[in-house]
Amino acid sequence: MNSNRMVIPSSVREAGNDPIFHIAELAKKRIADIGADPVINSTIGSLMDDQGNLVALKSVYSTFRGLKDSEIAGYASIAGLPEFLNSVVYACFKNHRPDGYIEAVATPGGTGAVRHAIANYSEYGDKVLVQDWHWAPYGTIAHENRREIETFTLFDKDGNFNFESYESKMLELLEKQKRVLSILNTPAHNPTGYDISDDEWKKLVAFYTKTANEHPDWRIIILCDIAYIDFAGKGESAREFMTILSGMPENVLPLYAYSASKTMTMYGLRNGALLCVAPTKEIAEEFKATCSFSNRGTWSNGTRSAQATLAKIISNDDLREEFEAEQISWRETLQKRAKAFMDAAKQVDLKTCTYRDGFFISIPCEHREEIRDYLADKKNFFIVALQKGLRFAPCAVNEEKCGKAPALIKEAIDAFD
Ligand SMILES: Cc1ncc(COP(=O)(O)O)c(C=O)c1O
Repeated sequence: MNSNRMVIPSSVREAGNDPIFHIAELAKKRIADIGADPVINSTIGSLMDDQGNLVALKSVYSTFRGLKDSEIAGYASIAGLPEFLNSVVYACFKNHRPDGYIEAVATPGGTGAVRHAIANYSEYGDKVLVQDWHWAPYGTIAHENRREIETFTLFDKDGNFNFESYESKMLELLEKQKRVLSILNTPAHNPTGYDISDDEWKKLVAFYTKTANEHPDWRIIILCDIAYIDFAGKGESAREFMTILSGMPENVLPLYAYSASKTMTMYGLRNGALLCVAPTKEIAEEFKATCSFSNRGTWSNGTRSAQATLAKIISNDDLREEFEAEQISWRETLQKRAKAFMDAAKQVDLKTCTYRDGFFISIPCEHREEIRDYLADKKNFFIVALQKGLRFAPCAVNEEKCGKAPALIKEAIDAFD
């Protein structure tokens, strides 16, 4: 043991630059040196306008600026402002409210919701099941809370949901742990843009139901991480799965991690919620009591002004319509950008993961870091290298540049092959 260490051994972490942060800094520097036009900066995970400025929805920030000082300065209630908790149920489910006992607890962003699900629905030392392509902080949050993640293979050979891998991992963990928290980031999955289809959800529900009926002592908890939901599908089609994922045995619990970061462009205001669709009143009450206690024991309470803004927008018909019209307009912009990328990818024969919706498109490949560095040095094109490939971000790149990017990536992949 290093005798100079003051941190307890299980909390010792490596220092170092986050690789995404590092490449994002390089992109910023290049833009400062040569201007934005010749640069493709696909490192940012936020919605940017065509000139590269952060999008902040007008309906959100005019409401926020209209708050009284006391609505900004005061504490929120521990579980969240009551008017926020009512409104966030609509923001999460809209017109696809599933049958069941629904409760919500405010959290600082979707991150806080994922934290509470891991801390309260998996046991110390247990493994939480996530997709092999996944948002890296799942691992961080699990470790921080003395859990680990286990992955299943998201795609089958045709680029659809890999039931064989998912079901075998679920059963293996259930045999061992008797409970599993399974996090499914859908729709508009980060980093691939995959949506689990309604038919795939029906098959999943059949699997959960059969497994839960055969083993009443097992606990199956499904956390749907819907961080990007308002940038998926058309109309409310992206929420249809919510009514499918209900009516299961009492030992299956669907949870939802709602994030206002992307849906309301409130990244820094730290606002979100964890919601349950419980099969019984007791399970819903247990959820509410436990997650409220977790709020008190971690961050105490959330950002009052952000909660008040969401509540005012959702509860006022005119404001809500204005807000939803802005969301739709940006979703359409994002869909146009992604289409430009995917059409160009097809033309140059660049293979991507199945993309259906959302902020990111992934390209499975080898030599990821070399390709990232080559594109940055030689082509003024900044892209994120992940464990299994490269991540392009149509959320941050205009349509014209989205159309140019695939040929550059393909050329680089071929050069390093
Ligand atoms: C897949 C996924 N889930 C959850 C979150 C949580 O975001 P926040 O805590 O900002 O709401 C993010 C943010 O990037 C994400 O990509």
